[in-house]
Amino acid sequence: MIEVHNIHKAFNGNPVLKGVNCIFETGKCNLVLGGSGTGKSVLLQCIVGLMKPDIGSITFDGTMFTNNKVDIRQEIRRQIGMLFQGGALFDSMTVAENTEFPLKMLTPNMSREERRDRVEFCLKRVGLENAGNKMPSEISGGMKKRVGIARAIAPNCTYLFCDEPNSGLDPATSIKIDELIYEITHEYGITTVVITHDMNSVVEIGDHIIFLHKGQKLWDGNKDEILYAQVPELKEFIFSSSLVRAAKRVEDEGGSLDQIRNEPAREV
Ligand SMILES: Nc1ncnc2c1ncn2[C@@H]1O[C@H](COP(=O)(O)OP(=O)(O)OP(=O)(O)O)[C@@H](O)[C@H]1O
Ligand SMILES: [Mg+2]
Repeated sequence: MIEVHNIHKAFNGNPVLKGVNCIFETGKCNLVLGGSGTGKSVLLQCIVGLMKPDIGSITFDGTMFTNNKVDIRQEIRRQIGMLFQGGALFDSMTVAENTEFPLKMLTPNMSREERRDRVEFCLKRVGLENAGNKMPSEISGGMKKRVGIARAIAPNCTYLFCDEPNSGLDPATSIKIDELIYEITHEYGITTVVITHDMNSVVEIGDHIIFLHKGQKLWDGNKDEILYAQVPELKEFIFSSSLVRAAKRVEDEGGSLDQIRNEPAREV
């Protein structure tokens, strides 16, 4: 479990995070939901140690991360896998070499053969068993995300952070990437944190969701509770899509959601 306690962060006097408290549960897909510019990425960077919060603390399974000794912080960092927004693959390395990279960095005692087996296992797990020799320029956006996931889980991470894993993907590919993150999280008991503004991800994989608005957590709950949340800012966020509004209207009128497939969305 990751515990985030009273995190504040400002840039040049402008507060971005204003006392965020939240918990990310073990073995679950924890979503950080919120509009653009609300501080989601800043929060993530504070949690993984890429940015130092002005005030507040973070613990990983009971071990203090913030301001702790360098070796303790490094040990926690070693257990963190990151899926970056743009994939952040090394262009000059093959898919297999990209996946192997953190193993070389983090597990120096692993033999070449063990590394090769682990890379093979991880690429297979994300459905890319035949793509190891390809260069990043030769594969699609969805495949790049898969490589990013393989690379993140290669060193057996305990914590997995994904910043907007669906950005730039079509809806069907987005769902497949969400499903992969969800499956891997539950299969290996990883504490996963996914940053998103995608409501599809919420209803697909939101085991535990926190809603961030203007640097504050306004709500938390799960995917079954979120549609009934009574926080005005969250309601506005959820129902900003005309499709979701149409779905809600149909349901409120006692109809079936299947109906909306046969009629165009209209303003309500
Ligand atoms: N290094 C930085 N220096 C100054 N301001 C920053 C820095 N990083 C983020 N900000 C500011 O903090 C605010 C929150 O940014 P953040 O990237 O966390 O938003 P976000 O919720 O991730 O948005 P998006 O959904 O668009 O990715 C923005 O106003 C941004 O300009
Ligand atoms: Mg962001």
